Amino acid sequence: MNHQSPGFPEVRLRRLRYHPGVRNLVREISIDPKRLILPLFVRSGSGLRIPIPSMPGNDQLSLDEFVKEVREVEKLGAGGIILFGIPDQKDAEGSDAMCEHGIIAQAIKAARDVVGPEFLIITDVCFCEYTDHGHCGVLKKMPNGQVEVDNDATLENLVKQTLVQARAGVDMVAPSGMMDGMIAAIRNGFDQNGFEHLPIMSYSAKYASAFYGPFRDAAESAPQFGDRRSYQMDPAASADQAIREVELDIAEGADIVMVKPALAYLDIIRMVHDRFPALPLAAYNVSGEFSMVKAAALNGWIDEKRIVLESLTSIVRAGAGIILTYWAKDVARWLA
Ligand code: PBG
Repeated sequence: MNHQSPGFPEVRLRRLRYHPGVRNLVREISIDPKRLILPLFVRSGSGLRIPIPSMPGNDQLSLDEFVKEVREVEKLGAGGIILFGIPDQKDAEGSDAMCEHGIIAQAIKAARDVVGPEFLIITDVCFCEYTDHGHCGVLKKMPNGQVEVDNDATLENLVKQTLVQARAGVDMVAPSGMMDGMIAAIRNGFDQNGFEHLPIMSYSAKYASAFYGPFRDAAESAPQFGDRRSYQMDPAASADQAIREVELDIAEGADIVMVKPALAYLDIIRMVHDRFPALPLAAYNVSGEFSMVKAAALNGWIDEKRIVLESLTSIVRAGAGIILTYWAKDVARWLA
């Protein structure tokens, strides 16, 4: 054996691994249930828990069942919930989302009544669940005949949507529609109406991803024609484009930024964290990431708990301390 090692035998990294107590000492990444947010799907009616077939364990909840669920999430110790609404009526503009009696306004008030001061009620701010065409804003015909989401008309509606949520008592809003200027518009709307204290968590780098498939069943929000590639990011775009999105959102007043999905975009999470180390960073561990693991787990092919904890650890290690995940309750239970 004539190989020269620059360190061995003086250096042996296994010395940090033999003793479990030493492993504990040098472990730096941890998952804090208080930094996990559970997505919930709310609809009208009563006594309803309608299972979402592609996301076992997740249901569309009527308001009464939703309230029970919220109590449980809080008791288990997760940080909060993010709300998605399934309205009774969909139309071209997504009016339900802008109505003070709409499903989300009702859900915010119902949750508000039962949670303590530390538990967060967050809303996903978008129109795809509320429009009959399933796109994330109002449509217009472009000069070439193509039908597109009208960016600036949608901004006006986003302001109306978020003001309804603010008046209903939401703690933070999370715009996910990838409209240009959405953060500035919402910030201005809040600031001019006495909600200057309400934080915005922007889905800043949100990719046009196949990993949202199960969610669109859950929220009944699949686009009825075309896709979302004219507003969500191209997975194959330069990673630097994500930095531009984040930079713009910071300039417009975003308090927290998000990368979505999480696991196929850990490089983006790491880049954003390196570029803006002081900026609170969230990641959305999306429906497709959930369903893949769940399906394999239900087949007995993998160990769900270990896979989930390892995946969430990788997201935190990449730089996102805040995670939106369908496993928020399970993780809180596992770590208790
Ligand atoms: C838009 C929205 C979507 C998700 C969160 N907010 C769907 C989309 O952009 O089509 C996806 C979340 C998931 O897949 O878990 N309202």
